[in-house]
Amino acid sequence: MSMRIQEKDLPSIAILGATGVVGIECLKLLAERNYPADKISLLASPRSAGKFIEYLDEKLIVEDTNQDSFNEKNVVFISAETQVSLKYAPIAVSKGSLVIDDSSAFRMNKNVPLVVPEVNPEDIFLHQGIISIPNCTTTPLVMLIYAIEKLSKVKRLVVSTYQSVSGAGKLATEELFNQSNDWLQNREISSKIFPYPIAFSLIPQVDDFEPDGYTKEEHKMINETRKILHNPEMRITSTCVRVPVPITHCESINLELSDNLDLQSIYNALDSMTGIEVLGKNNFEEYPMPFNSSGKDPVFVGRIRKDLSCENGFSMWLASDNLRKGAALNALQIMEKAFSIKY
Ligand SMILES: NC(=O)c1ccc[n+]([C@@H]2O[C@H](COP(=O)([O-])OP(=O)(O)OC[C@H]3O[C@@H](n4cnc5c(N)ncnc54)[C@H](OP(=O)(O)O)[C@@H]3O)[C@@H](O)[C@H]2O)c1
Repeated sequence: MSMRIQEKDLPSIAILGATGVVGIECLKLLAERNYPADKISLLASPRSAGKFIEYLDEKLIVEDTNQDSFNEKNVVFISAETQVSLKYAPIAVSKGSLVIDDSSAFRMNKNVPLVVPEVNPEDIFLHQGIISIPNCTTTPLVMLIYAIEKLSKVKRLVVSTYQSVSGAGKLATEELFNQSNDWLQNREISSKIFPYPIAFSLIPQVDDFEPDGYTKEEHKMINETRKILHNPEMRITSTCVRVPVPITHCESINLELSDNLDLQSIYNALDSMTGIEVLGKNNFEEYPMPFNSSGKDPVFVGRIRKDLSCENGFSMWLASDNLRKGAALNALQIMEKAFSIKY
């Protein structure tokens, strides 16, 4: 039986990357839980040192990150860049902290669990100081596959993503707003973060290309899905697309199952999965979008239908707030499981 943890026993945490879009979301989630302000330290680059961020009724100061930033921190959330994770995670671990890392730095390292608590919570306890969270497109996908595989094995999976700009950070989000403004004012558009203009367009490239013509993002989805589901042979292909949406990633998913299931069984499997909400069971015109999914915790699934082109196939659509379940919420849930925290 899990016990409610005493306030004094709550882990002392540092958020490295506190001024980024994921760091800010992490603070929002902690505030929703009334997490005590004196247990939270905010870290970022020297650019942000000295800034204040409002938290509950207080203002927390942002500090520059250095070797001593992790002293007496039970948990360090790192949501900065891969290089920052590579530099600071080992230091935090050497000080005895549990690092929960959002970057791709350690995800495929065999000594680092890659965790979605609804799917592979047992992996949390295999950590050697670092736990990674998956890419923000992988997390909702594995939740959906895990639910369906309780009924039938997925023989093949084809996924296409529609990824919001905040998935690439705060500067990318600003780029969408600035470009949209410039476009509407008939001014020239400049792109710094994305390889092409994103406003009023879309870009079928997320991250850099690999020699095989896939992008790194597509490889991340494939490899991370296999690792989390403990299925290295899983047949999966993906196409990742950036769209001019501020927050929330969507995915079109087509899967072929080993068994012939009816639609109702798929609804039931997804309905009974913690963290998933199914839309459109009684009304085809109800489906998840960034518009009705942003700022919310669940992964929303809809447009579920039989694939008419093969025997045991289904097509469906999901929307998931990339800053919440795709990043900060997943990381926080890992801490809550690791420390058996119930508020
Ligand atoms: N965005 C998502 O949906 C999402 C989802 C899953 C995983 N992730 C991962 O989460 C991480 C953060 O993403 P984000 O989207 O929040 O990025 P972001 O908005 O660009 O924020 C980056 C954060 O890192 C800090 N930072 C940069 N360089 C630093 C340094 N040398 N030392 C200390 N702090 C430094 C920045 O501080 P300053 O403000 O001082 O520059 C800022 O707080 C990335 O690894 C990303 O892959 C993101």
